[in-house]
Amino acid sequence: MSIEVPKHIAIIMDGNGRWAKKRALPRTLGHREGAKTLQKILKYAGELGIQYLTVYAFSTENWNRSEEEVSALMKLFSKYIKNEEKNLMKNNVRFLVSGRKERVSSSLLEEIKALEEKTSRNTGITFNIAFNYGGRAEIVDAVNQLLQEKKEKISEEDISSHLYQNIPDPELIIRTSGEFRISNFLLWQLAYAEIYVTDTLWPDFDEKSLDLALENFQKRERRFGGVYEK
Ligand code: FPP
Repeated sequence: MSIEVPKHIAIIMDGNGRWAKKRALPRTLGHREGAKTLQKILKYAGELGIQYLTVYAFSTENWNRSEEEVSALMKLFSKYIKNEEKNLMKNNVRFLVSGRKERVSSSLLEEIKALEEKTSRNTGITFNIAFNYGGRAEIVDAVNQLLQEKKEKISEEDISSHLYQNIPDPELIIRTSGEFRISNFLLWQLAYAEIYVTDTLWPDFDEKSLDLALENFQKRERRFGGVYEK
């Protein structure tokens, strides 16, 4: 069956901790497994012709986790950046990071910037990692930038064009591990997105799981198509 895919998918990769707990493993091993899932899903999304993939890797609230877990997540991200460059170039992936810089180490910020620059001319899928990201913070940052530009009256377009990235809004948001929450993710951009929640824990999410989400999305599109046609 051919699947008409959305242009932009956003994912809340939830359930790494529960995946580890079920196996009596430390939470950090759940994150490591989650990073492997992410590699797999990014590759598959590119093959399906999805143009933008945004994933929630670290929220502004995640600083409240134990020092050990925060440090493990930082290390995992840094390792990912170092190890993935070749793969991203081979697969023509444009890499972006969205979030605040404060509290992130300068070495990690430099690694991020270097990879963004290196992949900036790639024309395949755009892979946007929300890292040290909060949806409210992003809107506040946009408004503050507009104030600096001495804007007196702010339009929706002004806010949209001052968000961290200038990319289309996601049509589909997937959340794994069964929670029905947005958790401060892409608050502005998700205004019209279809929401898909699966009980599957993120480390167990695979190509078939993405197919299921897309089939579900396509069915909803068809129904709306029927209503709105002509
Ligand atoms: C939520 O699961 C997941 C996170 C807070 C981190 C997501 C990070 C990854 C998937 C690692 C890969 C990222 C990169 C960019 C290398 P949870 O810990 O809240 O799980 P729980 O709700 O079951 O405890």
